[in-house]
Amino acid sequence: MSQRPALRQSQGPSATRILGVGSFQPEKVVTNDDLSQLMDTSDQWIRDRVGIIERRFAEKDELLVDMAVAAGSRAVADSGLNPSDVDTLILPNCTMPTLIPNAAAQVAERIGASAAGAFDLNAACAGFCYGLGVASDLVRAGSSKYALVIGAEKLTDSVDPTDRANAIIFADGAGAAVVGPADEPGIGPVAWGSAGDLVHTIYMRDDKYIYQEGQSVFRWATTQIAPIALRALELAGLEPSDVDVLIPHQANLRIVEAIAKKLRAKGAREDMVVADDIRYSGNTSSASIPLALDHMRTAGTVKSGDVVLMVGFGAGLSYAGQVVICP
Ligand code: UT7
Repeated sequence: MSQRPALRQSQGPSATRILGVGSFQPEKVVTNDDLSQLMDTSDQWIRDRVGIIERRFAEKDELLVDMAVAAGSRAVADSGLNPSDVDTLILPNCTMPTLIPNAAAQVAERIGASAAGAFDLNAACAGFCYGLGVASDLVRAGSSKYALVIGAEKLTDSVDPTDRANAIIFADGAGAAVVGPADEPGIGPVAWGSAGDLVHTIYMRDDKYIYQEGQSVFRWATTQIAPIALRALELAGLEPSDVDVLIPHQANLRIVEAIAKKLRAKGAREDMVVADDIRYSGNTSSASIPLALDHMRTAGTVKSGDVVLMVGFGAGLSYAGQVVICP
């Protein structure tokens, strides 16, 4: 019997980092007053209970794929790479109107990474952190050299415009990051998990509109997510006091503030910058964390080299977080 040669397995660099970031939001601004013309709500209620001042809605012909292409292209440009250098494209989303085809392959083609391995990833509002974890591990394993992760959502297609509990929260947009090899570690291990017993608290109804038991999700997020963020820090070998910037999923400003408060009680600094991008972007699900990161970089509230703690959570229920060094 002939002996077969030992199977070869790939091996990559020991460290990865984010090389570039980009985002895209539709032009159309929708204020709370605009929404109060359409349903029984008010600017005061929305600001007090959710923290949103305005959000962006895509036009009818402005598709999830279009927004992903814009954000992804900007992230690649920011990284200094050529689009054809991207060999993996991961597209976290939960609002692509078709299961077949997926969004990722079309986006790869349109940004100029036509030969890239491309797949969608659905972990709802935790999707970007899941995608970033997968991208980093693919690069470290040698399966990919440069991976592009694009969180993109057109939530307005999935929200009943007369449902005041959801229509005031959700919005549209995309945010992206390029992951590649690095000399020093720039992406910590992902802390992820799920709570499938709470599946009934957020789901898409038969009419394709999102339903959520707001209060149940709120309670879960304000109690269960800070420990996940602390776990991500522990996996990265850091302390709460090392965090310069906290970017939780932008679901509700009161949830963001509750997570920050819990982390400060565990030693995070008072001067830790806390993302409040929801105020002008709304809840964009898998796009909210990279959108916030890109906006904060542009505004100068996050600087190159800062320690950024990100944590996403949402339908599934699913959650994931990790520490990154800002590019
Ligand atoms: O991103 C995925 C994960 N999702 C989340 O993390 C969302 C978590 N949940 C939330 O952010 C909040 O629960 C919501 C923003 C969805 C709702 O806020 P809430 O403070 O929990 O409001 P509620 O559902 O407890 O409703 C309080 C009151 C109710 O009236 P009554 O029964 O007390 O008379 C609602 O009917 O507020 C009413 N209400 C509104 N009033 C004005 C609900 N929506 C509105 C509205 N405008 N848009």
